Amino acid sequence: MPTPSPARVHDCTVVANEPIARDVFALRISAPALVSALEPGQFVNIAVPGNAMSLLRIPLSYAAADAEAGTIDIWYAVVGEGTERLSRMQPGDSTTVLGPGGHGWTIPEGCRRALLVAGGIGVPPVLCLARELAQKGIPYTVCIGAATADTLVGEHEFEEAGSPVISIATDDGSAGYHGFVTDAAEQVLELEGDTFDYVATCGPEPMMAKVAAAAVHAGVFCEASVERMMSCGFGACATCAVETTGGMKGACMCGPVFDAKEVVW
Ligand SMILES: Cc1cc2nc3c(=O)[nH]c(=O)nc-3n(C[C@H](O)[C@H](O)[C@H](O)COP(=O)(O)OP(=O)(O)OC[C@H]3O[C@@H](n4cnc5c(N)ncnc54)[C@H](O)[C@@H]3O)c2cc1C
Ligand code: FES
Repeated sequence: MPTPSPARVHDCTVVANEPIARDVFALRISAPALVSALEPGQFVNIAVPGNAMSLLRIPLSYAAADAEAGTIDIWYAVVGEGTERLSRMQPGDSTTVLGPGGHGWTIPEGCRRALLVAGGIGVPPVLCLARELAQKGIPYTVCIGAATADTLVGEHEFEEAGSPVISIATDDGSAGYHGFVTDAAEQVLELEGDTFDYVATCGPEPMMAKVAAAAVHAGVFCEASVERMMSCGFGACATCAVETTGGMKGACMCGPVFDAKEVVW
């Protein structure tokens, strides 16, 4: 019998919904009962009103949760009809959110130092982890990649969370290093791999595959937050299958965070 999902439907209200980069919005929702149940790396599934033909919720990671205020911060890219509709929600609008979804990051016991590698809109769950690491007093190093400078998010927030971003890379060279963020991550692991006990990554799949390979090469435990299309978000539909060395596993229940060595990239 599979473990039942802890996800429940919660009422929520939009507190803010503003653009923070090109086609990227920061959404703050108030959902006090859900905040205390969330762990870094988990996701929520939000219903977006306005299209009677679209019954599916949108799975989204979260960047921050404030237990005192009862709010959850989500950063999302507008990529299609659902996220476009979400971008039109206004403060005061109400909807429902299903969560918490899946399981999050597993910071290894006794971790001395972590390397965080985030690409594009993969930043939010990694930022959430950064705050957790800072709270635990574990130093970490961050590499962020984006297609262009105007889609880059998270630099200031990582710094606020407690660690300077050591490397920014953009595909077109409009900010930081001209090239892929994986170059920086590979170099850090090559030179200082033995000082890390943990690598965590979220972003485009080829990026995560390269980070995972570099971590394996350096002998460092690595986790990756994997995105899949999700219809239900709680283990009932099998749309979210991820190929792993242990067979097909659902990203909504067995992930979205996986041991990177388990994923067949
Ligand atoms: C666990 C999880 C966490 C996520 N966290 C974030 C986040 O923090 N911020 C963010 O911007 N996005 C995140 N996503 C992706 C987000 O769910 C999709 O971008 C969104 O569902 C697209 O909906 P749409 O109706 O606008 O696009 P659609 O019109 O449905 O599709 C537009 C494009 O997006 C692709 N797409 C649709 N759904 C997904 C999906 N679930 N995963 C990957 N690609 C998809 C489609 O293949 C298509 O190319 C996450 C996805 C998962 C599974
Ligand atoms: S989304 Fe339905 S089983 Fe994962």
